[in-house]
Amino acid sequence: MREIVSPARAIQGIITLPGDKSISHRYGMLAAIAPGRSTIANYSTGADCQSTLACMAALGAKIERHNGSVVIEGGQLQEPAGPLDAGNSGSTIRMLSGILAAQEFTSRIGGDESLSRRPMGRIIGPLTEMGARIEARDGKFPPLVIHGREHGRPLHGIDYQLPMPSAQVKSCILLAGLFAQGDTIVREPVRTRDHTEIALKEFGAEIEIEKRTIHLRAGAQLSGRELVAPGDLSSACFFLVAALLVKESSLVIHGVGLNPTRSALLDFLVSMGAQIKVLEVHQVGGELIGDLRVQASAVTGGLIEGGVIEGTLTAALIDEIPALAVLGAVSQHGLTVRDAGELRVKETDRIATIEAGFRQMGVKIESNPEGFHVPGRQSFHAAEIDSAGDHRIAMAFAVAALAADGPCAIEGAESASVSFPEFFATLLQIVQT
Ligand code: S3P
Repeated sequence: MREIVSPARAIQGIITLPGDKSISHRYGMLAAIAPGRSTIANYSTGADCQSTLACMAALGAKIERHNGSVVIEGGQLQEPAGPLDAGNSGSTIRMLSGILAAQEFTSRIGGDESLSRRPMGRIIGPLTEMGARIEARDGKFPPLVIHGREHGRPLHGIDYQLPMPSAQVKSCILLAGLFAQGDTIVREPVRTRDHTEIALKEFGAEIEIEKRTIHLRAGAQLSGRELVAPGDLSSACFFLVAALLVKESSLVIHGVGLNPTRSALLDFLVSMGAQIKVLEVHQVGGELIGDLRVQASAVTGGLIEGGVIEGTLTAALIDEIPALAVLGAVSQHGLTVRDAGELRVKETDRIATIEAGFRQMGVKIESNPEGFHVPGRQSFHAAEIDSAGDHRIAMAFAVAALAADGPCAIEGAESASVSFPEFFATLLQIVQT
């Protein structure tokens, strides 16, 4: 499907976003293994998080919807009738594999063409160390056959140094650790999003965190909870960038997740010269939540500075880089991204797909294996841009199109529904042409 996006004169309005994708996955999985009833308000509407619910239902959890909330009766998982389908979702396959590795039955899990190309060695390694047996296509790609507890022998806890910054891998090991004999320790090279640690505490696990070391005590007794997923800050990012790109904008986004392991985005935008106010901050289920107000006038719109994303900041902004690249192209000094090899193994090789989209719009970019540089003070030219089936690429270029010199076509626009089915409708609501 193609969407036509026309240049915008202003971005104005007040919006609320669906629940955070990362948090929704974790709540969906933990609610399914925690005995009792959990209620999750504002659960993500994205297809990825529906894949998680479908897998948990296939594993025996009773899942219903009441008044816009997802209600899950959790407990002992059952052997699924057929293979589990993670769709496009790396979070589903990687995190759920930790749970599956600890079950008494064998399960099969795979997904779409993009997921089938994503590396799974990073979870197979530590899960094997914990005592699981996993087969993969060519030893490292989905689909996976997870044999779990062979002859009833439980997994055992490990002390694991993560070789790459990955919240999915960290979460996979911690979720397996819930079922393991002995404590599980995960050491991170840089801090990544800590929603699993927070959610585990909420559901009743004992977990201690010291700097970049997470220590999960064995024998956790989880129980169902009432939860609210905060609005997704990574989805909010597209509208923040839209408001900063287009002159005369004023936008309020209500109820957005502001977890400190995610909110480096706001500090980075402010360091680029953005005017963003954070209001009404409070805590729900251990997660910070608040309202964002962003403004760009004809003057401030021209004063976005540019910047460098590297080291720990790259890990903190990994999902926001496509949108930030768009902002970088119109900034004063451009955007440099380093230490971002992980971008090459996302839903697409995002360095390549950002580069391809920019070339279609007549925007210069230089790439290398670990990152790229987009010079500043460039203009977007009307073009047809191929999302390559990647939700964040589709949304980033839809935002770029708002600042183009004519209407643009976004091919494969339906991929936005992987994380944010309401994206184009919400954009229509706030764009003034
Ligand atoms: C996620 C972690 C990140 C991120 C993904 C969601 C999570 O992936 O890119 O969109 O929910 O834990 P990695 O763990 O591969 O870095």
